[in-house]
Amino acid sequence: MTLKIGIVLGATRGIGRALGEALARRWGDAGIVYLTARRQSDAEAMLAELGTRGVCVQSLLFDLADNQAPSRVAELLRERHGGVDVVVQNAAYMPRVGESIARPSRASVEAMLSVLGARRPLAI
Ligand SMILES: NC(=O)c1ccc[n+]([C@@H]2O[C@H](COP(=O)([O-])OP(=O)(O)OC[C@H]3O[C@@H](n4cnc5c(N)ncnc54)[C@H](OP(=O)(O)O)[C@@H]3O)[C@@H](O)[C@H]2O)c1
Repeated sequence: MTLKIGIVLGATRGIGRALGEALARRWGDAGIVYLTARRQSDAEAMLAELGTRGVCVQSLLFDLADNQAPSRVAELLRERHGGVDVVVQNAAYMPRVGESIARPSRASVEAMLSVLGARRPLAI
């Protein structure tokens, strides 16, 4: 049987984490789900927390601020699995409740700019 391969970009928390967990539960042994984080410590925390709930996933480091990141991840999946069945591009900057969108802080502008790479498709 051919394993299904999925990847959720930006899965440390929020919607990405929920989608990744749901996909991993749905596929079970029939597939491999990769969840991405920007930091190794977040990746480890993500795997540990999901593990306590019996959910098995794999992690990859991925930051859209890095221009090479999409092609690196695409190449890795191509090498390991020959391709990918499901890609969820969730990684993005989301203003927090109470944060002014009219007058964003420098930090939030930098965070928004860091995800401009979202316009680059994962060419797999
Ligand atoms: N929640 C809403 O009401 C809502 C409404 C409309 C659209 N959306 C969209 O739905 C998506 C998820 O929303 P959310 O509320 O779950 O967001 P969130 O809690 O802010 O989570 C965003 C995810 O993206 C990751 N991320 C941020 N910048 C990144 C970068 N440069 N490279 C790679 N990953 C990065 C974050 O990782 P870190 O932990 O490293 O920051 C996190 O895992 C976003 O695209 C958002 O724009 C959400």
